[in-house]
Amino acid sequence: MSEHDGSGPPATALKLHALAYGMGIAAALSAAVRLGLPDALGEEPASVGELARAVEADPGALRQLLLALSCREVFREAGEDRFEHTGMSRLLRAGEPGGKRDMVLLASAPFAWDIWSRLEQAVRTGESVFPGLYGKGLFAYLVEDAPELGALFNRAMAGSGALVNKAVVTSLDLAGVEHVADVGGGAGRTLRALLEHDGGLHGTLVDLPPVVAEADPGLRANGAFADRCELVGCDVTEELPVQADLYLIKHVVHMWDDDTALRALRTVARRARPGSRVVLAEQLLDAGPSPEVTTTMGLLMLVSQGGRERTGAELRALLERAGLRCTGIRPTGTQVHLVEAVVEK
Ligand SMILES: C[S@@+](CC[C@H](N)C(=O)[O-])C[C@H]1O[C@@H](n2cnc3c(N)ncnc32)[C@H](O)[C@@H]1O
Repeated sequence: MSEHDGSGPPATALKLHALAYGMGIAAALSAAVRLGLPDALGEEPASVGELARAVEADPGALRQLLLALSCREVFREAGEDRFEHTGMSRLLRAGEPGGKRDMVLLASAPFAWDIWSRLEQAVRTGESVFPGLYGKGLFAYLVEDAPELGALFNRAMAGSGALVNKAVVTSLDLAGVEHVADVGGGAGRTLRALLEHDGGLHGTLVDLPPVVAEADPGLRANGAFADRCELVGCDVTEELPVQADLYLIKHVVHMWDDDTALRALRTVARRARPGSRVVLAEQLLDAGPSPEVTTTMGLLMLVSQGGRERTGAELRALLERAGLRCTGIRPTGTQVHLVEAVVEK
């Protein structure tokens, strides 16, 4: 039996069919989270009727949602008309350590559907479609027009990165480092983890002013780490008023096209003391456990911000064009690698 002789299921065509309707799965994940389904289901299996009452949904429609998701191992059928949690559905619960709830909501925010629908345009031009749709870049939009989505973005970045954060913090070579700057550090989750990891370390959180204003209260004045931490709000493509021994730039360069990334890295190279180090933490196109995730994120970076994922060699070349000397690439045991450089003496 072959898929071409008409006697069996057209496996290749069905696989493509499933891919073509991938947006249905993104929508199903989003609907499950918005309905509160992952939290309505406890540790024991529950019937569709019980779940429908708990989340105020139509039982027949909810059954369809659960069937679609359980085909992808998000929830599992546990007997007739009953469903239970799986590892993935547990990660959709509120407050779950390492959870993906906020990331699912961000991935399915209205602007995300808008920009994905213009991917062809982004591929033709090599540029983000965001300014054409919203009149400004993604971050300006999040800050000025949609602060609730901006807060969701920061939560999604902080929450979904817990495992990676831990791996980055323990993999970073902190020998001789007294002061670390986390550039584009968002809410400060990575910096906080670094300060917790090394009680002698000082840190500076650098990000756009409105992001820094919403940073982790523990890092702000009167917070638990206030005596070892400063916050600096600036646009790093223009300025970086911070002297540190190590500049960590995590999940930032992939948002940018080469010109913007070079402007930021040249700012770092200009302001940093000779001998200080710069570490990019990024997923690499040519390494890591999930090329599906990395390549899709590359397209998202393109369509949303004109950025891209890069190979290790491409990041190394960017660092060197900015006047930094790349000293190596360090795996962290996650999808993220550390691309290390030093400011020439
Ligand atoms: C994808 S988030 C990564 C946040 C954090 N480093 C992490 O790994 O979770 C990118 C961050 O870069 C910041 N950012 C974007 N453009 C920036 C700029 N020009 N100057 C400073 N920060 C910027 C954003 O506000 C955002 O917090």
